[in-house]
Amino acid sequence: MNVCIVGTGYVGLVTAACFAEMGSNISCVDVNEDVVEGLKDGHVHIYEPGLETLVKRNYAEGRLDFTTSLAEGLKDARVVFITVGTPSDDQGNCDLSYVDAVAREVGQLMDSPKIVVDKSTVPVGTADRVRGIIREELDKRGVDIDFDVVSNPEFLKEGDAVNDFMKPNRVVVGTESEESAEILKELYAPFARSREKLIVMGVRSAEMTKYAANCMLATKISFINEVANICERVGANVSEVRMGIGSDVRIGYHFIYPGVGYGGSCFPKDVKALIGTAREYGYDARLIKAVDTVNDDQKVVLAQKILDYYEPQGGVAGKTLGLWGLAFKANTDDMREAPALELIRVLTSKGMKVKAYDPIAWERAAEILQGNDLVEIAKDEYEALEGTDCMAVVTDWNQFRNPDFERIKELLKAPILFDGRNLYGPKQMGEAGFAYFSIGRLPVKP
Ligand SMILES: NC(=O)c1ccc[n+]([C@@H]2O[C@H](COP(=O)([O-])OP(=O)(O)OC[C@H]3O[C@@H](n4cnc5c(N)ncnc54)[C@H](O)[C@@H]3O)[C@@H](O)[C@H]2O)c1
Repeated sequence: MNVCIVGTGYVGLVTAACFAEMGSNISCVDVNEDVVEGLKDGHVHIYEPGLETLVKRNYAEGRLDFTTSLAEGLKDARVVFITVGTPSDDQGNCDLSYVDAVAREVGQLMDSPKIVVDKSTVPVGTADRVRGIIREELDKRGVDIDFDVVSNPEFLKEGDAVNDFMKPNRVVVGTESEESAEILKELYAPFARSREKLIVMGVRSAEMTKYAANCMLATKISFINEVANICERVGANVSEVRMGIGSDVRIGYHFIYPGVGYGGSCFPKDVKALIGTAREYGYDARLIKAVDTVNDDQKVVLAQKILDYYEPQGGVAGKTLGLWGLAFKANTDDMREAPALELIRVLTSKGMKVKAYDPIAWERAAEILQGNDLVEIAKDEYEALEGTDCMAVVTDWNQFRNPDFERIKELLKAPILFDGRNLYGPKQMGEAGFAYFSIGRLPVKP
């Protein structure tokens, strides 16, 4: 099948590469010339395990191509995926300007029947809006070309996106048209060989499903963070509590890891967007608002522990923190809404220096943090600790899980560790001679 994918970011490029791998012919369109030229040269501009191999192979074999011209991308395409960004606007609502721009251009350029698929995460009602924009442009041209607008939200997670796309739990398709559903079923068939994965539903339900899923996951994270904060105060250990509740199949172990709050390009904006949609329809989404507030507060919990520790010694000004991890989670270079940025903002505003290391996100982080003279980016995790007063861990990269604590002690001025991911055990750290502060567990002070 000939498919056009508009927007070659985390979602668009993964979708394109995986469809191409299964034999479809994919034309990827992006407005960013550097990205398009880079992809043609085999340079994949985002970090996603396994993606580069797929992109290079399918480009070389002619099933995947890249262009800045939507006219070119649309030429032979039966299906057009919109996978551009939908960031938050100033009010926290979903900014649909990129989606609108693509819809307008599709209406201006299409010359054969199309199924236009909203894969970007978009508020309920966006398919109707996209349909209206395309219809308006066709009317302006005085032409009547058959088209449908379908919702097909994406559930992949950064860091494991190729795997998620190749083996989806489900493929949600929102459409009233049997023909559109059949065509998408055909396109997704190679990803559903073990069992039927397509769940066909109304367009609005499909749009809502994506927000409901992300808000549910965000709720689990804020819930366990709140439980962790209570645990600390009452002398309970959240890791033990997690085991105790996760063993109940109605609760499960997934997404109940306490930490420094959720970040990334999806949960924060999608939680805010659903609050905004509800407000627009006259409903006060109290629970989801609380999820958002708890998360905002959680992002400063670790920084506060550091401030509290140094307060009796005259504060953090002039002290240096060795920081492990910058990305919002492991296995990604995505720095959007990364809790590390909030930690750095709070601590450097009080005069603390930060020497930070991240295996993949360091380059993006360096660009974002440019201009903050108190921040230095280190080349590896041990260099980040050289001559620092204490250390903190905020991203759960595998290579941080079992470090050389003796070497760490030699590098730090004093063995003080603030663990925002509960990667280590309080008993283990106490025995290793560290002052150790984690989330939802009592501190260890030798
Ligand atoms: N990143 C994720 O993990 C994830 C997961 C599921 C859903 N989503 C949703 O998918 C959408 C895309 O997210 P992303 O992270 O891939 O975004 P991204 O920012 O990585 O990529 C968007 C791409 O669209 C391009 N673009 C913008 N306007 C364009 C236009 N008019 N024509 C062609 N290209 C254009 C940009 O240049 C960019 O390369 C969002 O709605 C997001 O919420 C993201």
